[in-house]
Amino acid sequence: MTGELIFVTGATGLLGARALVRILRANPHLGARVLVRDPARWTAIAPSLGGDAARVELVVGDLRAPGLGLDAGERERAGRGVVALLHAAADTSFSQSLDSARAINVEGTRRLLDAAASWPELRRTALVSTAFVAGCRTGPVYEEDAPTTAGWVNAYERSKAEAERLVRDWGRDNGREWTILRSSTVVCDSAQGDVTQVNAIHRALRLYYGGLAPMLPGTPATTIDVVTADYVADAIATIALASGAAGVTYQLCAGAGAMPLGELLDATLEVWRRAPAWRRRAVARPVVADLATYRLFERSVEETGDRRLRQVVGSLSHFVPQLAHPKRFDTTNADRALGRPAPPVRDYWRNMVERLADGRTGSAMLRDVA
Ligand SMILES: NC(=O)c1ccc[n+]([C@@H]2O[C@H](COP(=O)([O-])OP(=O)(O)OC[C@H]3O[C@@H](n4cnc5c(N)ncnc54)[C@H](OP(=O)(O)O)[C@@H]3O)[C@@H](O)[C@H]2O)c1
Repeated sequence: MTGELIFVTGATGLLGARALVRILRANPHLGARVLVRDPARWTAIAPSLGGDAARVELVVGDLRAPGLGLDAGERERAGRGVVALLHAAADTSFSQSLDSARAINVEGTRRLLDAAASWPELRRTALVSTAFVAGCRTGPVYEEDAPTTAGWVNAYERSKAEAERLVRDWGRDNGREWTILRSSTVVCDSAQGDVTQVNAIHRALRLYYGGLAPMLPGTPATTIDVVTADYVADAIATIALASGAAGVTYQLCAGAGAMPLGELLDATLEVWRRAPAWRRRAVARPVVADLATYRLFERSVEETGDRRLRQVVGSLSHFVPQLAHPKRFDTTNADRALGRPAPPVRDYWRNMVERLADGRTGSAMLRDVA
């Protein structure tokens, strides 16, 4: 392939694939080289690019393998013509151990940066990170803030904070531009509410729908910050290559449009109550309690020996305690770069819950527990 290229990791994932479509559409003279570990995954994604797929070249490799699973010549060829690097690949599971999270999110990033250090034309490296590198911090979280020192709710958050640090340090040490794009948690594709990727939030909703979890931490005023995949993909595609984005961190978050937990529960229960089958089961509204009470509940569940409840509470423990660390994400840089804020959560939350409840996602995931 001749001409300028962007090297993309995670192009078969939820955000990477959507961002790549938009980048190629907006930059008709740019080609892409994508690192994939399984070419069949790419074959499934490629049709979403239409004719632009012809401008994409595959490199089969693995972030977990030494040298990305490429020999020195392949790594050098992978970088020919590459002017920008978009690193969107990650292991996004909240329940993994720290070693396992680091193996891809930190060491994989390090392997990628080691290879990229010898790509002579590379100017910009953009890392897709998470807003929850802020971990257990509370209050306002500014885009300029370094990842927290207050600890993290899970190993994923911590590993992404470590990856951010790697990218910034690498940029400084190698005289290359870096950009960090911190996404909030994606809950649906667009404001229509369709869900193509089920994550911890949907699984938690499923447990609350089934009446399997009676409590969650936080206060009714705790804001829940989530986003749509469309918004984040648009933002990545607009900002990753933008000239003003060098050395800047962007929080791709609902920000001022986040929804208070109390209102979010009201909206969710309003949708569920419409189903006679759910009303018949008379599931109580989950109690919102402070973290100390929630921890007491977790401990008593551990001690009761009820296997099902232990599993449920165990699965929530990797994520739900984040609600006890209320924060408000500042989105000044992102709003300025995009000319608009993210869509407010109350514009699509009900749609998303309706889609889950009526099974139009194809997963019918809430009906499964009824
Ligand atoms: N989705 C969210 O709610 C969210 C929120 C905040 C931040 N983020 C960040 O956004 C980025 C993209 O997330 P996503 O939701 O699009 O993730 P995803 O759908 O789970 O996709 C992950 C991508 O990483 C690739 N990958 C995983 N392990 C790899 C390895 N060892 N070598 C090479 N590629 C590997 C996957 O390839 P395969 O197709 O082979 O599995 C896939 O393309 C991540 O950095 C994540 O931390 C996501």
